[in-house]
Amino acid sequence: MIEFKGINKIYKNNIVLHDVNLKIDDGTITVFVGPSGCGKTTTVKMINRLIKPTSGKILINGEDISKKNIIKLRRNIGYVIQNTGLFPHMTIKENIEIVAKMQKMKPEEIEERARELMDTVGLSYDKFANRYPAQLSGGQQQRVGIARALIINPDIIIMDEPFSALDPVTRSQLQDELINIQTQFKKIIIFVTHDMDEAIKIADKICIMGGGKVIQYDDPENILKNPVNDFVSEFVGKNRIWSSPEYIKVEDIMIDDPVTCSSNISIFKCMKKMRDERVDMILVTDKNGKLDGIITGKMIQKEENHHKTVGEVMINPKIVVRPDNSILDILKHVTENDLANVPVIDEDRKLRGLITRTSLVTTLSEQFDIGTEE
Ligand SMILES: Nc1ncnc2c1ncn2[C@@H]1O[C@H](COP(=O)(O)OP(=O)(O)O)[C@@H](O)[C@H]1O
Ligand SMILES: [Mg+2]
Repeated sequence: MIEFKGINKIYKNNIVLHDVNLKIDDGTITVFVGPSGCGKTTTVKMINRLIKPTSGKILINGEDISKKNIIKLRRNIGYVIQNTGLFPHMTIKENIEIVAKMQKMKPEEIEERARELMDTVGLSYDKFANRYPAQLSGGQQQRVGIARALIINPDIIIMDEPFSALDPVTRSQLQDELINIQTQFKKIIIFVTHDMDEAIKIADKICIMGGGKVIQYDDPENILKNPVNDFVSEFVGKNRIWSSPEYIKVEDIMIDDPVTCSSNISIFKCMKKMRDERVDMILVTDKNGKLDGIITGKMIQKEENHHKTVGEVMINPKIVVRPDNSILDILKHVTENDLANVPVIDEDRKLRGLITRTSLVTTLSEQFDIGTEE
């Protein structure tokens, strides 16, 4: 874990960072986002002590880094920057191996790891090992930069706008690659970008900075849904939630208090309730609020004996969903199975709400309206 505690940075009279407090968990990709000059680079460079705070401290696994041996500290931190910082007069292999050699890893081990890592970042060793950086495209060079950062197997990798100079397609491939690498290696990845889409795609946590302050530090979903102020919502773009519909959850659009009845009333009474409440189906629940079944007006109309109980006529719902399911999941179910209603239940089968085709359509048409407004 990395902790920033009351970090300030002042250059002459210019306050560049103002009381930055953060906890960064192991195994997460944390993305620093914000406009140019807001202090992102200054913040992340403090982690490997390339910049010293004016006041405050940074702890890694509880240890104050200012008290650590700087070589040991940096040995545990990989660093990838925008224009890769590859040495132009060294081959790709030499570039990847240099740090490991300086740290006196065994030569066989170094070679094996270089091969492995080039493979990890999607570069053929046989094809590229002996080329020079200038013979590679920008995207390939960034891949080398990532392999180089990984070779000493650090716990932390800092990436400062590593993909900013790449074309959108290459960029997107490298973002995917990074997500794969993280799944495999589970590092702390600190990633800087000024691109919100990039942040949303790769981040476990996003730290939005503005004017040297942390404005919001949260998971991508919360940043999108509950921006703390106008600065964040403007930066995020207020319609972006709609370009990330996977973040719209069932509970955001469900009816919270659907009409229910118990299974022991007669279908005659149930029919009356449907008329009174102006619904064409009712969810059947037990005395603890757990879902028993579903009954529709049509099902009742087919019955000749109106003394039958709801329990005898109701059916099991074809599909149930959880409050935290994405609406994309249910959209698929609803269209594939031609469903009009989907009950929402929790782990204990307790009824939480109801998704109707209408609420889905309304949500989607809202998306459309918002999209055409501007
Ligand atoms: N060495 C320095 N001396 C004075 N001011 C600096 C120095 N380095 C950065 N700054 C200022 O600190 C602010 C934050 O810079 P930086 O962290 O590079 O922002 P970002 O990475 O978010 O674009 C900027 O206003 C920049 O001009
Ligand atoms: Mg920067």
